[in-house]
Amino acid sequence: MKSLPHPIQYQGSKRNLASVILRHLPKAIDTLIEPFAGSAAISIAAAAHKMAKSYLINDLNKPLAELLQLIVESPIETAMFYEGVWNEQHSDSIEHYYKIREAFNRTQDPRLFLYLLARCVKGSVRYNSDGIFNQSPDKRRYGTQPKTMRKNIFGVSALLKGKTEFSSLDYREILDKAQNTDLVYMDPPYQGVCGDRDSRYFSGINHDDFVSVLEWLNLRGIAYIVSYDGRRGSKTFGELLPSSLELTRVELDAGRSSQATLLGRDEVTYESLYLSRTLTDKLACKSTEYYLPQTQQCSLFEPRGHYV
Ligand SMILES: C[S@@+](CC[C@H](N)C(=O)[O-])C[C@H]1O[C@@H](n2cnc3c(N)ncnc32)[C@H](O)[C@@H]1O
Repeated sequence: MKSLPHPIQYQGSKRNLASVILRHLPKAIDTLIEPFAGSAAISIAAAAHKMAKSYLINDLNKPLAELLQLIVESPIETAMFYEGVWNEQHSDSIEHYYKIREAFNRTQDPRLFLYLLARCVKGSVRYNSDGIFNQSPDKRRYGTQPKTMRKNIFGVSALLKGKTEFSSLDYREILDKAQNTDLVYMDPPYQGVCGDRDSRYFSGINHDDFVSVLEWLNLRGIAYIVSYDGRRGSKTFGELLPSSLELTRVELDAGRSSQATLLGRDEVTYESLYLSRTLTDKLACKSTEYYLPQTQQCSLFEPRGHYV
């Protein structure tokens, strides 16, 4: 896949796996819904391939959802604002970062968030228990150059402007809106943290609630894909989704760069992708209408097909 614009550096972004994930999307989707959008890597990639008529980008993290909206709808102003903040950092860039971080926590201005995401350690957001953004600056980098940022912002805007709705709601509310002609891609926060809170994101989710929501989507005949657990060698991280949901599990080679680095290990990580029954039924009936390459179709319909 050609290189796609990505203004937002975000831990857990699916930008490197997007081309593989897109193979499991139907060609003609009314609305591609991303309830846990993060940096919206899948919507951006799908839009680049004109795979849906419209897009619904949602993330519970309000400044993040607002930032995506500003990038798409007001690219010139957003790029100029970034350039202004970026240029102010040269006298003492570390002190500048902390000043912007304090201003962001006070105002929740999404434009300040863009600078923090570009400049913080590994693009990985961190929050304390009061929801205060507390990640430190990356001391070795100044963050994306304004010229590069402008190019990325304009690129995303060109792909999504005029066909995208943005919101900042709990994923369950978004799923109310899904129709049979839509495709939902869900990439909830990583599992394996204490309780439902995840300091790595603005919020975590409850596994049992999530399973109930998937049951509800099955009953409504909604086609969906979930990125959920993973494996490194023989060690699985995160709870698997139950077989009662009748999902097809596919393993994707996530390489060494994303999860493995995040977890401090130099090993290949495989991430699971779960395809809903409605989706695999659609793929089986109308395989020629989908992007799935011929060579992978056979294994897709085996109970736990592996594409690694
Ligand atoms: C793993 S990240 C998604 C990364 C995304 N796929 C990408 O490519 O950047 C999970 C996201 O879910 C969001 N989130 C957490 N709890 C949520 C909830 N209850 N409803 C909606 N979004 C939520 C977090 O703010 C976070 O951005």
